[in-house]
Amino acid sequence: MTEPVIAQKKPIIVELEAGKEYWWCACGRSKTQPFCDGSHQGTGIEPLCFREEKGGKRGMCCCKHTATPPYCDGTHKTLGD
Ligand code: FES
Repeated sequence: MTEPVIAQKKPIIVELEAGKEYWWCACGRSKTQPFCDGSHQGTGIEPLCFREEKGGKRGMCCCKHTATPPYCDGTHKTLGD
């Protein structure tokens, strides 16, 4: 399996709708971060499907190294240049 690439070293804040299903990009190659656009094909990495419960603003991981996907946990601050 290919390693995920770092889309950016900070989260993207998005407004999520309650009860809606989303596909979070886990490979880092999507042009529509933080969501999957199909660019993972051939990498062996699959997007993460999740359903937003409450709705509201969320910090979505874009470094793809979070321990709490799809959400940012601050891991991007520990990644080197
Ligand atoms: Fe990254 Fe689909 S484009 S997981």
